[in-house]
Amino acid sequence: MSYKLLFVCLGNICRSPSAENIMNHLIKERALDVQVFCDSAGTSAYHIGSAPDRRMNAAAQKQGIELVGKARKFRTLDFEKFDLILAMDRSNYQDILYLDREGKYQDKVQMICSFAANHDDKEVPDPYYGGQDGFNYVIDLLFDCCSGLLDYVAKEKL
Ligand code: 4NP
Repeated sequence: MSYKLLFVCLGNICRSPSAENIMNHLIKERALDVQVFCDSAGTSAYHIGSAPDRRMNAAAQKQGIELVGKARKFRTLDFEKFDLILAMDRSNYQDILYLDREGKYQDKVQMICSFAANHDDKEVPDPYYGGQDGFNYVIDLLFDCCSGLLDYVAKEKL
């Protein structure tokens, strides 16, 4: 059985697919693909079925990552299926916990920035309405977060 990670943002076209694809890249580098599984989702229904944002993909490609996937909405069944659910910002975190009506899964939901080693950010900023620099920054920050997260998973969960 693999350890299952779910990355969650608002639209599932910028930040969470970036986290998912960066994490898959790091997982392959460390030959952990059999042991760790990743997916991503959005708390909103705005972009269901859409590919990752092309500005986000341009930023990812500069770091050697191709963003693949199709947006879907977070569903309550995800609480059961995944071992750890990573929110990009505080509103994602609140929106996810709001769906946990009985408070059974609170420990599974964490802020992804808590795993960053080289950034002080508490949240991954939403790049959607900004310029290309914002997208590039999200990729840098998520590399840091995902690297720390994978260290944690490899050390504590596998
Ligand atoms: P994401 O970015 O949550 O990182 O996928 C956004 C995508 C779309 C919107 C906002 C943020 N939107 O308002 O449509």
